[in-house]
Amino acid sequence: MNVPYPVIYRTPLMRTVMIVGASSGLGRALAEHYLRQGHRVALAARRTELLEELARAVPSAVPPVVERLDVCEPSEAVAALKRMADALGGHIDLYLHCSGIGRMTPEIRFEDELPMLSTNVTGWTACVDWAFRHFLRQGSGTLAAITSFAANRGLGPAPAYSASKAFQAHYLEALRQHAAVHGAKEVRIVDLRPGFVDTPLLAHPERLFWVLSVEKAVCHIVRAVEAGCPVCTLSRRWRWFAPMLRLAPRWLIVRVLRKAKTCAC
Ligand SMILES: NC(=O)c1ccc[n+]([C@@H]2O[C@H](COP(=O)([O-])OP(=O)(O)OC[C@H]3O[C@@H](n4cnc5c(N)ncnc54)[C@H](OP(=O)(O)O)[C@@H]3O)[C@@H](O)[C@H]2O)c1
Repeated sequence: MNVPYPVIYRTPLMRTVMIVGASSGLGRALAEHYLRQGHRVALAARRTELLEELARAVPSAVPPVVERLDVCEPSEAVAALKRMADALGGHIDLYLHCSGIGRMTPEIRFEDELPMLSTNVTGWTACVDWAFRHFLRQGSGTLAAITSFAANRGLGPAPAYSASKAFQAHYLEALRQHAAVHGAKEVRIVDLRPGFVDTPLLAHPERLFWVLSVEKAVCHIVRAVEAGCPVCTLSRRWRWFAPMLRLAPRWLIVRVLRKAKTCAC
């Protein structure tokens, strides 16, 4: 996906940025942003050909480090993260975890849910734990992860996805507490919760509502990361909607889902 530039907000303070899931969608657009801003960037995903293509396409003062990383192979993923950190000189200012998969699984079959659990829960935890421990040793740094608006409530058509995103959101909150309790004041944890964003993850964006462009989403994300915002729901409409979804009575959610199902038929 080509993101037109110039887009956005300057990020004067960042120096070294590691992005996992940089081959597509939000991760790719964020990688473009940080490369164009002249930061030292390391990019990881399974499709390294897309990362190489990005590295060639975006003019940057310092060429990015590129690593193949599959979060579903946790020990190899952690080894790849270590290699990236070494290539960046050992110091990381920002770790951005963008890798994730998501789809509707209304048939409730374990084989459909498992990839989301391996990617968004097990693999995600392996990478995020590594980054957190790195920042604790370093004494500073920002760990930012793209969770989702779906973290707010269990969603009938996407049980594994919504549950995996709730897991991530709770996990980040726990890490934030851990950092505070252990006096790691300079370690910041940022939970980024987009509503719908027009990326390859959405199979049919035209059937959805309030779909945010990638450029706008990146703008919100960069600002939230700069501000060290603990939890950022993007954009404004979704921010207003989040408490309503959390507080809505069960019967109302069921009624809305029934109506959506009837309309889809
Ligand atoms: N788009 C939305 O509406 C939306 C809304 C809320 C939250 N989010 C979240 O935003 C994040 C980014 O999604 P996106 O919309 O940018 O989707 P996307 O365009 O499909 O990008 C997903 C990224 O995750 C990487 N990835 C997937 N499986 C991986 C694995 N096993 N190991 C390593 N990397 C893996 C992909 O790289 P490779 O395939 O090359 O490995 C790709 O770079 C996800 O966590 C998603 O849940 C998206």
